[in-house]
Amino acid sequence: CLWVRNLRLKRRLPGPFAWPVVGNAMQLGQMPHITFAKLAKKYGNVYQMPHITFAKLAKKYGNVYQIRLGCSDIVVLNGDKAIRQALIEHSTEFAGRPNFVSFQIVSGGKSLTFTSYSKQWKMHRKVAQSTIRAFSSANSQTKKAFEKQIVAEATELVGIFLKLSSQGKYFNPAHELTVAASNVICALCFGKRYGHDDVEFRALLEKAHQFGQTVGAGSLVDVMPWLQSFPNPVRSVYENFKDLNQEFFGFVCNKVEEHRETFDPEVTRDMSDAIIAVIDKADSDNGLTKAHTEGTVSDLIGAGLDTISTALHWIVLLLAKHPNIQTELHELIDKVVGPNRLPSIEDRSCLAYLDAFVYETMRFTSFVPVTIPHSTTSDVTVDGLHIPKDTVIFINQWSANHDPLKWKDPHIFDPSRFLDENGSLDRDLISNVMIFSAGKRRCIGEQVAKVQIFLFSAILLHQCRFERNPTEDLSLHCSYGLTLRPVDYKITVKLRGKLLKEQ
Ligand code: HEM
Repeated sequence: CLWVRNLRLKRRLPGPFAWPVVGNAMQLGQMPHITFAKLAKKYGNVYQMPHITFAKLAKKYGNVYQIRLGCSDIVVLNGDKAIRQALIEHSTEFAGRPNFVSFQIVSGGKSLTFTSYSKQWKMHRKVAQSTIRAFSSANSQTKKAFEKQIVAEATELVGIFLKLSSQGKYFNPAHELTVAASNVICALCFGKRYGHDDVEFRALLEKAHQFGQTVGAGSLVDVMPWLQSFPNPVRSVYENFKDLNQEFFGFVCNKVEEHRETFDPEVTRDMSDAIIAVIDKADSDNGLTKAHTEGTVSDLIGAGLDTISTALHWIVLLLAKHPNIQTELHELIDKVVGPNRLPSIEDRSCLAYLDAFVYETMRFTSFVPVTIPHSTTSDVTVDGLHIPKDTVIFINQWSANHDPLKWKDPHIFDPSRFLDENGSLDRDLISNVMIFSAGKRRCIGEQVAKVQIFLFSAILLHQCRFERNPTEDLSLHCSYGLTLRPVDYKITVKLRGKLLKEQ
């Protein structure tokens, strides 16, 4: 009986038929030059989205199934229950990262994000985590300093939006949102911010964005590494990825070197100094070498650039798309904050509906639809199915956020779903939103990100009304990558009340 059970567990996991050589790549919209264009023409943009295809396959094969991409067998986890069972109940078994070629290029090969589970990775993650805490939430002084940076960026952004909206003009807010959000993490890492017209910074932001576009789950160069030996579009994607990583990492190395030259152990100016102090200068046996300093800074800045700005892109888009919700938010902010000061993080507990709006934006858009790929560190069983050691795992966060067993009308945008009968935030429900992943690889920037997104949204709403062009519909179409970014859209911004500056 035990023998039969083992045989059942060890047989191939359920999943769609895989074609020789390419496997299921075509089904996932991963043949950019052929399939994307054809399917998009026929069915529209949703068919280019692997997370949607993964969720559809789950309806047929169950929440845990196997696909083949090129020469890799990949297990895809879908739905809230199976994902949490894997990442939380079997946290160590699912804490690995695959040995992908693209992963080895990131952060000079000393990334904490793109390396597998090990003692050294644990140490590396700890250093990064405590550095983030020290600069954002360690005590009331650091909290204030962090908040001040966000307020400075948000108020400058308001001024720029108003200029761009002069005489009711409609404009694309993408670049300005990206610079404002990215400046916060740059200030934390390097003690430096950049002007909205800075050409060098614009180029760096473009690289961070391209990075996310290449590294999203199912990147062809990783699952079909042999394609690198042929002159074809996939090879050029790989070469481009290598170049952009080198340029991005070069920028970080220069900044860290400047910090080393002016380092003063008595004064910690920013996160680069703090990391130099722990990794370069400390006489510890943490297993990290000097090169891990650049790797850590590069990971933190890389992780913070594209993610938070993408969140703000969606927030502004959804405010303009849902004017009634925007009006409700304005009324709440006017009641709690009033016209004579800017909102602060202390107002958060009285602005539950704004928090609900941010959570609903994260759930509804699921703008990090699939986590960075994981791999299994040992044999493991999930949902009664056996998954061998060293299997590549894709985790479909989008499916957890649209799981009909967890959410009523998951395809409807409704922030009020997060409020209880007293108008307070439903803590149980918000913990079901999955965008920062879970378990041992859970995002370490979650708290920083939530504070930043909340305060940016509060200040923008306090000062501005966002309006779409009535003759154009605001589309929810987006481009696929590690993050889902809305396609370019235009809005105009009107000042509400007095224009306030940083206090
Ligand atoms: C990893 C989401 C902002 C640092 C991740 C992962 C996700 C994620 C989904 C992958 C987890 C996995 O593979 O299971 C987000 C979102 C953000 C955000 C949605 C903003 C809205 C940030 C910020 C930082 C950061 C601001 C740093 C300051 C990291 C790091 C990892 C990570 C270092 C790698 C963790 C590891 O592999 O152990 N994030 N992130 N993130 N994030 Fe974030």
